[in-house]
Amino acid sequence: MKRVLIIGSGGREHALAWKLQQSPQVGVVFVAPGNGGTEAIANNVAIRADDVEALADFARRNEIDLTVVGPELPLSHGVTDRFVAEGCLIFGPSANAARLETSKVFAKEFMTRHGIPTAPYRIARELGAAQRHVRELGVPVAVKADGLAAGKGVTVCHSYAQADEFLHKVLVERIFGSAGDTVVIEAGLSGQEISVLAFCDQKTTVPMIVAQDHKAAFDDDQGPNTGGMGCYAPTPFISADVLAQIRETVLQTTIDGMRQEGTPYRGVLYAGLMLTEDGPQLLEFNVRFGDPETQAILPLLETDLFEILQACATDSLDATTVRWEVGACVCVVCSAPGYPGAFPVGSPISGLSAAESLGATVFHAGTKRVGGQLVTAGGRVLGVTGRAGDLPSAIAVAYEAVGCVHFDGMHYRKDIGAKALRL
Ligand code: AMP
Ligand code: GLY
Repeated sequence: MKRVLIIGSGGREHALAWKLQQSPQVGVVFVAPGNGGTEAIANNVAIRADDVEALADFARRNEIDLTVVGPELPLSHGVTDRFVAEGCLIFGPSANAARLETSKVFAKEFMTRHGIPTAPYRIARELGAAQRHVRELGVPVAVKADGLAAGKGVTVCHSYAQADEFLHKVLVERIFGSAGDTVVIEAGLSGQEISVLAFCDQKTTVPMIVAQDHKAAFDDDQGPNTGGMGCYAPTPFISADVLAQIRETVLQTTIDGMRQEGTPYRGVLYAGLMLTEDGPQLLEFNVRFGDPETQAILPLLETDLFEILQACATDSLDATTVRWEVGACVCVVCSAPGYPGAFPVGSPISGLSAAESLGATVFHAGTKRVGGQLVTAGGRVLGVTGRAGDLPSAIAVAYEAVGCVHFDGMHYRKDIGAKALRL
């Protein structure tokens, strides 16, 4: 039986642990550092997700057969390069390949080199030039810090004043430090935003069912951007034809380009796309599973996840058939009051068994156990997930279950999946 290590501590990692536990090939799952939910179904290991040395040491001493990387930070720190150097199998791209997410400049230049459809853009390192570029492109305009900025590095600006203020914060006040040395200024696009994630080895791409994240904090996409307040899959906004086109022009082009440029890509390639009137345009790459996309996608995966991830890591994905269940899945994120700003931690959580007795699956994100009590420990606390034969039923299961859950000041959006029903 295989021994698996998952790196990370969010809802995504709980969903990965939950799915990998169902594999007939998997015997033991470790999660570093994990959360209050992974503790109940796997073995939490007290190692930080970005402590590459300690993770490699753990994997070697515990004879881990496959390590699965959740977040981008360890990838940017070269966790994959380190594991590969040790001869340990790992799912996730090298630090060089991870630049598709860790540098917006690299990503945009890569898209341009390979003819991948994306918005017109400029690059700047100082305020005056940046302000000129904003005026050349006009508003709305997306201003993006080049490096990793914990999901806060992008602002879509609707006036020059708003763009100037954000540029000042990034380039002059340097709120993101060196991650904001350079900015990408990009023409604003409009349309439905979708997440197309694909399993990849260095030659093959296999798209997953397409998901739609809900990034804004409040209903009707109002309020500040968050890591994601909920998600559903599959989305009706994309036809099989358009998905085939995205697979070819975005996913396969990227995998082929990365291989040709000497940085072969293995892992999940996540394309964040806007479906515009001129066709799909790529907004961003992520080099990992999405959160909360994973919580809505994996419950519908029929094929053994371990087999797929192992095939990606060993360049044998072309021999694997990936199958999906019919039906729909909806994940509603319950967040702490104040998120994505400052929020309290340590509030007792109740009602999870009642929620699960209604048929929902509750993925933990920011939770931990103190004594016997489960308490909040992060901004996004839980992802209450309903699966059913169709989207309206999945929404009903998720929201009925949310009604059972309680912690002080709990916030959630009431309209996850609603856009798809308005179609
Ligand atoms: P990114 O990290 O580049 O995906 O940007 C974060 C969010 O900003 C995206 O999920 C979109 O909602 C929004 N965004 C990024 N680029 C654009 C753009 N060119 N036009 C409109 N919205 C954008
Ligand atoms: N849900 C957006 C992300 O994972 O980046």
